[in-house]
Amino acid sequence: DDPATLKPRPPVVAVMGHVDHGKTSLLDALRGENVTAGEAGGITQHIGAYQVKTKKGGVITFLDTPGHEAFTQMRQRGASVTDIVILVVAADDGLMPQTIEAIKHCREANVPMIVAINKIDKEGANPQKVRERLLEHEIIVEAMGGEVQDVEISALKKTNLDQLIEKLALQAELMELSANPDRPAEAVVVEAQLDKGRGAVATVLIKRGTLQRGDTFVVGAESGKVRAVIDDHGKQLKKATPGMPVEVLGLSGVPSAGDVLTVVENETRAREVASYRKE
Ligand code: GTP
Ligand code: NA
Ligand code: MG
Repeated sequence: DDPATLKPRPPVVAVMGHVDHGKTSLLDALRGENVTAGEAGGITQHIGAYQVKTKKGGVITFLDTPGHEAFTQMRQRGASVTDIVILVVAADDGLMPQTIEAIKHCREANVPMIVAINKIDKEGANPQKVRERLLEHEIIVEAMGGEVQDVEISALKKTNLDQLIEKLALQAELMELSANPDRPAEAVVVEAQLDKGRGAVATVLIKRGTLQRGDTFVVGAESGKVRAVIDDHGKQLKKATPGMPVEVLGLSGVPSAGDVLTVVENETRAREVASYRKE
C-alpha cells in the first residue's frame, strides 16, 4: 500500500513462556481488568483474541491462543500477526526450556519482547535471578542497562498490570504500526471451529482494509459471504478495521489457523479460487 494511505493501528500482542508460568492467568487478568461491571462474569462467548484499552486511550489487541502454537503455525504459513511478545517467566521457577524456545522464536521472527516476571507474590520469587539468567541468553533488560523492557507482575494478585500495559503501549508507539483501512480486507485466521447453531466460525485478525457484512471472500480452501462480524464482546459490528479481532460468520467450511482471508469482487470468483485451492 501507498504510504499515504496508511493509518495507525493497534499492536497485536501474543504471550509466550514455559508451561504453568502464568500465560493464561495473565491473559485472563488483563481481560478481566477491562471487562465493564455489567459484563463481569457475563461473557458468553470466548473468541481467540480481545482488545484492551490503555489509560491514554490507545488500544492493544491480545491473542488469547496458546502462544507458541499460534506463533509458529502462523509464521510457518507466512502469515505472522504478532507485533510484540510478552515473555512470561515465573519468578520462582526461572528460565526453563520453553522460555528459551520462546526467546529463539522471537529472535528468528524479529519480534520485540517484553519480559513479564510473574508470580512475584510467591515465596521464593527471585526476579533478579531471572534477569541474570536472561543476560546469559543475551536478553539485557532495562534494569541491567539494556533495552528490553521488563516488569515484575503477579497475574494472580493483579500486581503491576497497568505498568505492563503502559510498557506495551510505549513499545508499540516506537514501532509506528500502521495499515491502510480503505481497501478490501485481508485478515488472518486465529482460530476456527464448527459451531452448532452458527455453522463454521472463524476468529480473524484484520491485517489491512475494512471487512464488512456482505463482503465475499476466500479463506484457505473455503469461501463465503460475510453474514456477521462480531467483536470480542459478542456485539455485531457493521465493519472491522486493521488490528481488530472479530468473529466472521458465513463460511463454506472451517479454515485453519494461519489461513489468510481475502475479500474478492464476487461469489463466482471466491468459489473459483477456493475450488482451485482444494485440488
Ligand atoms: P500452560 O498453558 O499449561 O502452559 O500454563 P500457563 O502458562 O497458562 O499457566 P497458568 O496461567 O495456567 O498458571 C499455572 C498456575 O500458576 C496456576 O495454578 C495459576 O493459578 C498459577 N499462577 C499464575 N500466575 C500466578 C501468580 O502471579 N502468582 C501465583 N502465586 N500463582 C500464579
Ligand atoms: Na497451566
Ligand atoms: Mg495456559
